[in-house]
Amino acid sequence: ITIRQATIEDMEGMQNANLNNLPENYTFKLYMYHILTWPQASFVATTSGSDLVEAEDEDYKQDPKQDAQYVRRNEKIVGYVLGKMDDEPDGDKTPHGHVTSLSVMRTYRRMGLAEKLMRQCLYSLAENYLGEYVSLHVRKSNRAALHLYKDTLQFEVLSVEKSYYQDGEDAYYMKKVLVLED
Ligand code: ACO
Repeated sequence: ITIRQATIEDMEGMQNANLNNLPENYTFKLYMYHILTWPQASFVATTSGSDLVEAEDEDYKQDPKQDAQYVRRNEKIVGYVLGKMDDEPDGDKTPHGHVTSLSVMRTYRRMGLAEKLMRQCLYSLAENYLGEYVSLHVRKSNRAALHLYKDTLQFEVLSVEKSYYQDGEDAYYMKKVLVLED
């Protein structure tokens, strides 16, 4: 499994992974906006031919769209992180990044991929875009993601945003200060 910067060609696979893994879905335009505006802020985890056969990948078999993409590129997107710099006009003027979406296909979870994707993204937001901190939203009930953010990556909860999600669930708004190591 390889982790690399996401490109325009990866957008379909990223959107597909997002549809499989999360109820928060986005337009193709939003993926495009992220990748064209902050090309170094989004990453994908991909697997190529032999890995796929060994994993007998259920996600892959169920998914004819990725099938076509796999045949074309001989690789499949099994995880992604969609990152950006915050460009809200009335937001905090300190340059800071935001993680819009992160997910890993079921078969490939608990292998450290989300942590790796996040670390690459955070590093790049600091190094390439001079982000001083990074923020994100996560469902209060999302134990796996909360473990990753809080315990593994040391994000802190800044606030609770009531009924942030469409189904009425609250979000934790989380933040991590970015420090570039030598
Ligand atoms: N329960 C408890 N802890 C978990 C779980 C779980 N189900 N899954 C992972 N963890 C822990 C791991 O043990 C590890 O902890 P450690 O550092 O103490 O060893 C840490 O979280 C990171 O594990 P990874 O293997 O890197 O995580 P993984 O690749 O499995 O991906 C993710 C985690 C992205 C949350 C995955 O479960 C997923 O795709 N879930 C559905 C989509 C989702 O919830 N995305 C996040 C939404 S929030 C946002 O997008 C900003």
